[in-house]
Amino acid sequence: MSNVVVVGAQWGDEGKGRIVDWLAERADIVARYNGGHNAGHTLVVDGKTYKLALLPSGVVRGKLGLIGNGVAVDPEALLAEIGRMQALGVEVTPQTLRVAETATLVLPIHRAIDAAQEGLRAKPIGTTLRGIGPAYEDKVGRRGLRVCDLGEPELLADKLEQLLRHHNAWFRGLGLEPFALEPMLQGLLALAPRILPFAGPVWHLLDRAHADGRRTVFEGSQAVMLDVDWGSYPFVTSSTTIAAGAATGTGVSPARIGRVLGVSKVYATRVGEGPFPTEQAGGLGELLRERGREFGVNTGRPRRCGWLDAALLRQGVKVAGIDALALTKIDVLDGFEAIDVCVGYELDGQRLDHAPASLAAQRRAVPVYRRFAGWEQPTQGVRSLDRLPAQALALVRGIEEIVGVPVDIVTTGPERDDTIVIRDPFGHPFAG
Ligand code: GDP
Ligand code: IMO
Ligand code: MG
Repeated sequence: MSNVVVVGAQWGDEGKGRIVDWLAERADIVARYNGGHNAGHTLVVDGKTYKLALLPSGVVRGKLGLIGNGVAVDPEALLAEIGRMQALGVEVTPQTLRVAETATLVLPIHRAIDAAQEGLRAKPIGTTLRGIGPAYEDKVGRRGLRVCDLGEPELLADKLEQLLRHHNAWFRGLGLEPFALEPMLQGLLALAPRILPFAGPVWHLLDRAHADGRRTVFEGSQAVMLDVDWGSYPFVTSSTTIAAGAATGTGVSPARIGRVLGVSKVYATRVGEGPFPTEQAGGLGELLRERGREFGVNTGRPRRCGWLDAALLRQGVKVAGIDALALTKIDVLDGFEAIDVCVGYELDGQRLDHAPASLAAQRRAVPVYRRFAGWEQPTQGVRSLDRLPAQALALVRGIEEIVGVPVDIVTTGPERDDTIVIRDPFGHPFAG
């Protein structure tokens, strides 16, 4: 089993980055397949914190990082992040990072569109305002610019002109300042010589790596419930976040994906707007936010907090192709008297085992909870299953039963090694 896909199983920020970092020790390559610098993946290694947005989390271990064609690449943000990593002692060079030539570019105009669209919405989505959604809109609108276009100045000028013709009509219609071609073009041409050395055929590199028996971790951004098809549309991101996105977003064959690991906290958070049936708006939500330090990596926004929605998780497992779970942040629940887990909903007098499709019905659905006993003995920093309090283990086993897939990994703190491995997702025998 040479390849593992890591997918967010809730609304993002489950701890994917730290799980990818842990898996990367056992792999050769880490590849991003979706999203852009709307993501924020945190790694803590020996007390040092690394916050990644566009770069695959494997760069911290010096593994080859790939940014696939499914990623929306803001060239300025990429260079800035490489600079930040270098300041932390992590070298990122064209030998350690390859960016798909066909990845779509995020341009300054996309940030402006993101902000203007949010302003026009009766109910804003609460996007990260990074321009990711509008860049994907241009991609499917077949007017997007790609990384390889940076190497073709004439083509770049033509494509940019077309792009501006499209968007400036809208800006003018709203009474907003249109974008001028020349400064945008010059800006891109100035970035080109710094970006192009990283550009390459990622699909081809992956194919060769597979032939050489090398292992890849595919690092998802965002999560199932933010997926453009499977999330709580329209309060979603604009990419395919689920395991299938690893194939479309890098060029790897779906048949080469060995195991799909879904990452979920043992409670739930959401940043931005949209339905969240198990949200705890009062003191309990605040306690979770404070104990779990639930503030956005990139935007600093407080995350909404609540109980684990295992009904949604069960649904997400099916549609995202998740084989097993990594359960994170169990230490945050240390000292709770009781822990509720949503197992289904009541909607208009009927019991449902999955979320209804319509947003209005989702808002009316009342969670049905199963209560688990809490524990007093701290789990923080525990690194083997037999040292978990019996109640914490019962919670893990209960989640397995409700969701219907095994838990491979449990984490007990932000540090790299605060990790309990029940089963190595690469297929190695039982390790802990
Ligand atoms: P990602 O977007 O899925 O990679 O997750 P983020 O990095 O946005 O958010 C996860 C946050 O939880 C980060 O601040 C991590 O350092 C932290 N974290 C991850 N695992 C654990 C854990 O087991 N316990 C605690 N207390 N914090 C954790
Ligand atoms: P990681 O990879 C949590 C949310 C935004 C907003 C919606 C759309 O760190 O888990 P966008 O800017 O993508 O158009 O915003 O999606 N969102 C995330 N929430 N974690 C993320 O990434 C997110 N990326 C986007 O808050 O609700
Ligand atoms: Mg995050």
